[in-house]
Amino acid sequence: MNEKKWVRERIKSKLSLLESEKRTSYNQGILQQLQQLDEWKSANTIATPISFRDEVDTYELLTKAWEQNKTIAIPKTDFSTKEMSFHVITSLKELEYTKLGLLEPRSEEYRVTSSEIDLMIVPGLAFSKENGTRLGYGGGFYDRYLNDYTGPKISLAFPFQVIPTVPSEKHDVKVDKIVCPLQVITYK
Ligand SMILES: Nc1ncnc2c1ncn2[C@@H]1O[C@H](COP(=O)(O)OP(=O)(O)OP(=O)(O)O)[C@@H](O)[C@H]1O
Ligand SMILES: [Mg+2]
Repeated sequence: MNEKKWVRERIKSKLSLLESEKRTSYNQGILQQLQQLDEWKSANTIATPISFRDEVDTYELLTKAWEQNKTIAIPKTDFSTKEMSFHVITSLKELEYTKLGLLEPRSEEYRVTSSEIDLMIVPGLAFSKENGTRLGYGGGFYDRYLNDYTGPKISLAFPFQVIPTVPSEKHDVKVDKIVCPLQVITYK
C-alpha cells in the first residue's frame, strides 16, 4: 500500500470511531472558530463541499452563511474530465445525489468562476501541521482546481486530522489555514 493510501485509511478509521458527543462539540467549535476569521467575515461568496459520512460537518456552515446573506457555491464533479465546477445554491433542495453517493448541485446553471470565490473551504482527510499540506481522497480534483484559484484556502479539521507531516507530491496544493475546534493554525 502506498504511503498516501495508508494515511488515508488510518484517518478514515479514526473519523469513523469518533463518538457522537465529541463530534458534535468539535463541529460546534470549528464553526465558531471559522466565523471569527476575517476571511469568513469579509467573504461574499464562499465555496464549500457538502460534508459526507464522518467528515467535519458543513451543513451548519451553510445555514450560518445564508443567515449572513452570503452566497454559497457547491462543487460539481465531472469524473470523465476529473474537473470540478462550482455552482450557487440557495437551498439544499437544489442538490441531488450522484451515482457515487455525493450530494451535488442538480443544475449546471449558476456557475461561478474561481475569481468570484472569496473563500474556499477545502476538504481533506489529513493535514500537515508543519506546513498545511493536505491529503484528499485521491481524485486530485481539488489539486487541479486550486491551481488557478488565488483566494484564501481554508480547511476544517478534527484535531486528529492534523498530523506532523503528510506524504505529498509536487502537485499537492497547501491550504492557508486549518480551523480546528479550539484553534486556527495559520500558514499564510
Ligand atoms: N494539477 C494537476 N494536474 C494533473 N493531474 C493532477 C494534478 N493534481 C493532481 N493530479 C493527479 O491526481 C491524482 C490524485 O492526486 P492526489 O493523490 O494528490 O489526490 P488528493 O489530493 O487526495 O485528491 P483531491 O485533490 O481531490 O482532494 C494523481 O494521480 C495526480 O497526478
Ligand atoms: Mg493531493
